[in-house]
This record gives sequence, C-alpha cells and structure tokens, in this order.
Amino acid sequence: MNEDKIKVLLNNLYGKEYNVDNLHQKFNNLCSRYRSHRPEKLKELENRTPDLWYKSSNNICYILYPDLFAPDSPDSQKLNGVKNNLSYLKDLGITLIHILPILKSSGDAGFAVENYKEIDPKFGTMEDFRELTSKAHKYCIRIVLDMILNHTSDTHPWAAAAKNGDKFYQNFYLFGDSGQNWPGVPEIFHEFAPGHWDYIPELNKWAWSTFYKRHPLGVKEEKFPFAQWDLNYKNPEVLFAMMENLFFLANQGVDVFRLDATNFLWKEKGTSCVSLPQVHDILKLMHTGLEKVAPKSIFLAEAIELPQSIIKYFGDSDEAQTAYNISMMEAIWKAAATSDVTTIKEVSSKMPAIPPTCEWMLFTECHDANFISELDEETAIILYKYFLKNKGLPFMLKEGKPYSGAVSGTTWSLLNGNKDLILLLEAVKLTIGGIPMFYMGEELGVENDESYKNDPSKKDDSRFIKRIAIADKLRERRNIPGTKENILFSKIKELIALRKNHPASNLPPQFLDTANKSVLGYYKKGEEKTFYLANFSDKDQIVTLEDKSNKTLKPFQFEVINR
Ligand code: GLC
Repeated sequence: MNEDKIKVLLNNLYGKEYNVDNLHQKFNNLCSRYRSHRPEKLKELENRTPDLWYKSSNNICYILYPDLFAPDSPDSQKLNGVKNNLSYLKDLGITLIHILPILKSSGDAGFAVENYKEIDPKFGTMEDFRELTSKAHKYCIRIVLDMILNHTSDTHPWAAAAKNGDKFYQNFYLFGDSGQNWPGVPEIFHEFAPGHWDYIPELNKWAWSTFYKRHPLGVKEEKFPFAQWDLNYKNPEVLFAMMENLFFLANQGVDVFRLDATNFLWKEKGTSCVSLPQVHDILKLMHTGLEKVAPKSIFLAEAIELPQSIIKYFGDSDEAQTAYNISMMEAIWKAAATSDVTTIKEVSSKMPAIPPTCEWMLFTECHDANFISELDEETAIILYKYFLKNKGLPFMLKEGKPYSGAVSGTTWSLLNGNKDLILLLEAVKLTIGGIPMFYMGEELGVENDESYKNDPSKKDDSRFIKRIAIADKLRERRNIPGTKENILFSKIKELIALRKNHPASNLPPQFLDTANKSVLGYYKKGEEKTFYLANFSDKDQIVTLEDKSNKTLKPFQFEVINR
C-alpha cells in the first residue's frame, strides 16, 4: 500500500480534527521503530516463508487454552507445558496453533486484557512465550494469538488512569452520562451483561462496554469483578497505542493475529455500531503497519456476520487475510442434524468469491458456543432443537427466539457420542475448503463437563462446559487400541494426512449431482480425478455416479474415489 493511501485512510478517520501529515509521520515512525527492533531470527524465518503460506492445503489449526492443554504443568509453567507437548500436535498433523488469550487479564477467559506486553504469570513469562514460538517454528507450526482490539479490562492502566480522572486516558474510552441504550445497537451478552454501558461509581459516568460489565443498567450489586471497556478509535492515540501493542507481539513471533470482536471497533449514534465503514479503514491501516513490521504475519478476522458482510473484512486484499466461515460451519452441523446436505450446497453456491490472496478458516467447534443464528430462522430452530436434545446448553438465546444466539457443547456431546457421524463431520470440514480448525479435545472425544456450574464466576456462562482440562493421561489413551480416543485420534490423523495430500483441499467445492439429498458429492478444481462422497444419513444410501454406475454408501460413510 502506498503512502498516499495511508494518508487517505488517516484523513477519513481523523482529518476533521487532526493534522494528517503529523499522524502519517507518527504512523511511519512507529512502524520503523518496530521493524528495526524485529529479531534477526524472525527476519530470517520471514525470508524462508512464502508470501501466501496460508493458502496451502498443509494448514491445519488447533485451538487451545494453555492451562487446559497442559494441566499437568504447574502454574507459571503452562506455556512450557504447551511447548513440551508440541510433538503431540505435530503427530496429529497440526501446523497452526491458536493459543487462546495469555496476556495479563482480569476475566472473560483472558479476553479482558490488563497488559498487552505481559504474559499472565499463571501461564509463564514473555520469554517462555518466545521460546514456545521459536520451538513451534522449528516444528513448522505457526502461532495464532488473539489481538483484542475492541476493549481492554477496566483494570488496564489506561482505564485505571481514566477512573482517576486523567482526561488523556478518559479519551481512550467512550464515556457517557446515561446508561441508556442507543436504539438499534445489538446487545451481545444480553443475558448476563445487558445493555451497552458499564456504570462507573467513581465518576458517576458510564463507559461503553459491548461485552462484560461490572454494573449493567439496573443492576445494583457488582455483577462481575471486571468490565471490558470499548476503546475509542476516534482518538488516533488509541489507534497508535494498539498498533504498538500489535507490533510488540508480532516481534515475539506471532504469525497470525485473531482480531477479536473486530466488527465493533467504531460507534456512531443512529447506526447499529456494527461493521461501520471506519472499522475497515482501521483494519487497512493496521494491515499496512503489520506488513511493514512483520511482512509474513497475517490477520484472522472474527466478525460473526453474514458472508456478504464478512467478506468485506478481506477488503481489497488489504485487511484480514483470513476470516471464519460461519455459514459453512452452520451448514455442516445442519447436515449432521437433518441428514440433508442441501444447505451445504446452497451456502457454497451463494458464497461470494474472496480475493485470491485470502482464505477462509473453518471450525465446527471452537472455544465459544456454536452460533446457530447466522443462516436463517428455520436452521436456527432445527439446530437449537437438535443440540438441546443432545447435551447442548443455550448461550445468549433470547427467550422464544432460539435463532438469536448459540449453543455450547463439545462435538462429542453435541453428536451424542456418534463416532461415525463425528468422523464424517471432520472429514467434510477437512476437505470442503478453507483452513480447518480443531478445538482441543475434539480429536479425543472429550465430553461436556458441567462442573463450571459450581464456580460462581463461571456459572452463568455455558461456554465453560467445553473449557475442559486435558491431562497427559487422557492424551495417552490415544495409544490404547479400541478406546474412543484411539479411534478418533487415529482416524482424524489419517483424514488430515489425506487432506494434505491434495493441494486443492482448501479450494471451494464443485458439487456432483448425487440425486440423493443425504449424500454430498464434491471435487476440487484442478483435482477432477478425485472426488469425495459423504453420506449424512444413518441408513445405507445408493447414489448413481457420473459413469451411471451405482454405489452404496454405509451409514455416515465418507468415501474418497479416484476416477
Ligand atoms: C470474542 C471471543 C469471546 C469473548 C468476546 C469478548 O467473541 O471469542 O470468547 O468473550 O470476544 O472479548
């Protein structure tokens, strides 16, 4: 991106109140400073890394919480525990690990950050993190880390200064005099943290807070011992301060930044305050900055929206390089729930094309609840009923409106322990397109754990049902023939290897007409010799192939056919 474009973007955002030349200078100074501090080892790695490394079908991502992935390691040694278990991930075929928040934080499982440059002592130190990234790179595993851009904890020093009356830092947040909702703005955590504002007794003011609040409107007692205050990107100091945090982390060896809750970055009264055009200007500026500091590091946008809106996060190849394909995730689950693959085909055919330098990420389980409300009301109701009939728990579901939220549960529990169906879902996820993601324990058939209900700080948040410690002992069960851990792990490992053997695995599917609504048939452009058949029904299904021959597929069978 040329310098003129940077100026245009800065002008769009700040031109009315600030001198754009000065901001441009500041932008470039910040980038140069961090580029010059970038460790040589990372620069060498950069030189060996292809530009579009994330477009290779080799990429498989694993999502983990370090304390839950390494429960056997003592406190303060969790990152070392992850480092010592890299061989497990390598064995499975993983090439990317999304390490859920590890920065010093006050809550929301790490998403309420107190310090962007310090690791939470319960996990280890920044040096441990650098050692982990460096060993992972030797294993050809790249590191994904959350960049929580939208908010900080209200215990972050900026927020603490703001509470103390510091005007400079008060301008880092969005303060108001009333806790009244702005019409048309969605309430995200409406069940346990309703509204958009957090009351600050010290100031008798309200801070904009999309997610967790200490004092939501109408709640007298402190609801949570922390709040997440949204940052005020209308203040360019905020943009620069967050870019600095981003560059600092890039220089510790982060390869992919998951831009958490990125669609909420800009607020304007009279709008929904979601995905406003300014959000895209901010991302373009961050993209350019990161390119200057760490040219092979990329963004993953977390924007839970319809594809037409999500694809805007790819920009003109100048925002995020990857984003979650939420619609396909829901469509795969719908096929599992209904034995009907029609929605997978529909979603795929309606999916807008993405820039050739970009890629989808596809999970069927992650650290959050599974969204069910992206596609349409009918799908949401089907998924809601299906998940709840199994062992799912609702998350943020407005009463009587199941399509407004999500359902929590592990894959094993949501599919009622049906191994064949689990493996079918995994096979489709691995071959249908994009970069597949696995949430820790998915490969071992980990079941829901309801013990979070005994912890008052967690009990209202059903997402904790799947935030489960996975001890070494459990992982070792994958070596005991006949156990579910062994069956799932070994089969998923085989499927990962299969995916990697097909360079076009990440491309979108081309469908075959199987004339059977339970059987998905697809192949990839450039690999017409191989095609995949996936029977989502619990009965034998007969399909007629292109050469007019018939093929019988067993219940939940996934079949790879070489023509
Ligand atoms: C994202 C995270 C979620 C978190 C929220 C607020 O949606 O995935 O876990 O609660 O942001 O930071």
